[in-house]
Amino acid sequence: MTKYLVSPSILSGDFADMGSSVKAIERWGGDLVHCDVMDGVYVKNLTFGMPMIAALRKVTTLPLDVHLMITEPERYVEEFVKAGADIVTFHVEASKDPLKTLRKIRSLGCKGGIVFNPDIPFEGYEYLADESDMILVMSVYAGKGGQSFIPETLDKVRAIRNYLTQKGLNVPIEIDGGVNEQNAAACREAGVTVLVAGSSVYKSDDPARTIRILQGLNGSSGQES
Ligand code: DX5
Ligand code: ZN
Repeated sequence: MTKYLVSPSILSGDFADMGSSVKAIERWGGDLVHCDVMDGVYVKNLTFGMPMIAALRKVTTLPLDVHLMITEPERYVEEFVKAGADIVTFHVEASKDPLKTLRKIRSLGCKGGIVFNPDIPFEGYEYLADESDMILVMSVYAGKGGQSFIPETLDKVRAIRNYLTQKGLNVPIEIDGGVNEQNAAACREAGVTVLVAGSSVYKSDDPARTIRILQGLNGSSGQES
């Protein structure tokens, strides 16, 4: 049976107390910590960089899932790995040479993955799949939390999952943006195995229950639903 992982996005956490926001993910039963790095160039917003990752590394043993929304990510991947990232993903078209960037991340002993914004097709980037530890499909345009899920992006998930199956590759597909209790099952059915969720977890009345539902477990008992 597939185990579905939930990676709550700390973009919806408390920026004045990020340590507690990450400890909360552990308590709630989250699997990864999704860290959204924005540079004000690839996307309009600015969030945080390596110092935040290094600080969080000290307070949690959960894997740090670092989503780089930055231009020319190759300039910084080594520093993010050194800061303690467990997974570094970057937007394919933001990198001058995505294959080289992936290889650089992985050569440093870190998992490397590629990200597709809604308007960036997987076609043309298939050659990256067998050197990726993660393929992240954006279900909103990267740049801010709290946006509405774009259902058409699940077609891309299905196409990528089909491609991976045909090639005999078992790469996790992550989805990010507007994921909630209502659309999580459709994501899992399309082939997603890692669900990022910011607002739906942090704004939930019962975040532990929300995480179990996103994981595909029965919200109250932890049984498969
Ligand atoms: C969007 C970020 C997401 C975002 C998710 O640019 O990559 O990780 O924080 O937040 P929600 O779940 O609120 O859409
Ligand atoms: Zn993200």
